[in-house]
Amino acid sequence: MSDQYAVIGNPIGHTKSPLIHGLFAEETRQDLSYTAVEGPLEPQGAFAETVRAFIANGGKGMNVTAPFKLQAFAMADERSERAELAGAVNAMKFEGGRIIAENFDGIGLVRDIERNLGLPMAGKRVLMLGAGGAARGALLPFLAAGPAEMVIVNRDVEKAKALAATVGGRGALLACAYRDLETMGRFDLVVNATSASLTGGLPPVPPSVFSPEGAAYELAYGKRLTPFLRLARNAGVRTIADGVGMLVEQAAEAFDWWRGVRPETRTVINRLTVPLD
Ligand code: ATR
Repeated sequence: MSDQYAVIGNPIGHTKSPLIHGLFAEETRQDLSYTAVEGPLEPQGAFAETVRAFIANGGKGMNVTAPFKLQAFAMADERSERAELAGAVNAMKFEGGRIIAENFDGIGLVRDIERNLGLPMAGKRVLMLGAGGAARGALLPFLAAGPAEMVIVNRDVEKAKALAATVGGRGALLACAYRDLETMGRFDLVVNATSASLTGGLPPVPPSVFSPEGAAYELAYGKRLTPFLRLARNAGVRTIADGVGMLVEQAAEAFDWWRGVRPETRTVINRLTVPLD
């Protein structure tokens, strides 16, 4: 039987992961099967049972998506520093009866920005909107990329401050409120890590933060021109992107971690890209 992998979430019907990993397996000639599993929302403990049953059936690894990233974190035997900081897990590897947990969301985002969009973050001014799970996952890989300055802004400022405090001393990092942005000048990269776009909302970000030569990145994907991306475009920002590249790059990280082979991502990104307009 081929090695078994799966993505677990609820709902899971929309997932692109089986398609992405199927294409990776084909390209790298790896013999594996990758399916989608709808995880149980209740009773408590049912998620962990489902994962353990998958392992008992010979499962080698799983991706984890909403709403199970915290439960996966809790049931892991070992966690990477990235997963620890994110407080969430998006990939698990099952080895010798142990569950090893990772979070590749942030590193996938950095790879997409730096390699695919061609925007190295070193020495740049970076603004991240939001201080929830998505922002937490991105923070450490962002700081590792060496921006000159990184600012986290959130409606609930205390949450942004608490997040900044968890990584204190790793780089020039500041937490602030949206109104403070009015006087902070332009940023080379503005990343929308809020969940606003999922409901068609727009974080109260002033257009003055955008730099025409810079970039605006929307973590959501397949939502076309979200209010955030539209604001950026109207401000003259040259490079605007949604999260399709991040999705494929985090999958490539997991694939490499599981199989020891790095798949090519460009053709898969092209295949999944939904035009913004
Ligand atoms: P996720 O895991 O997607 O990050 P989350 O942990 O629930 O989801 O966090 C949602 C984030 O989006 C928060 O930073 C939230 O801001 P607050 O903490 O101030 O609530 C932010 N958010 C959601 N809707 C928003 C909106 N319309 N404008 C600005 N920020 C918004």
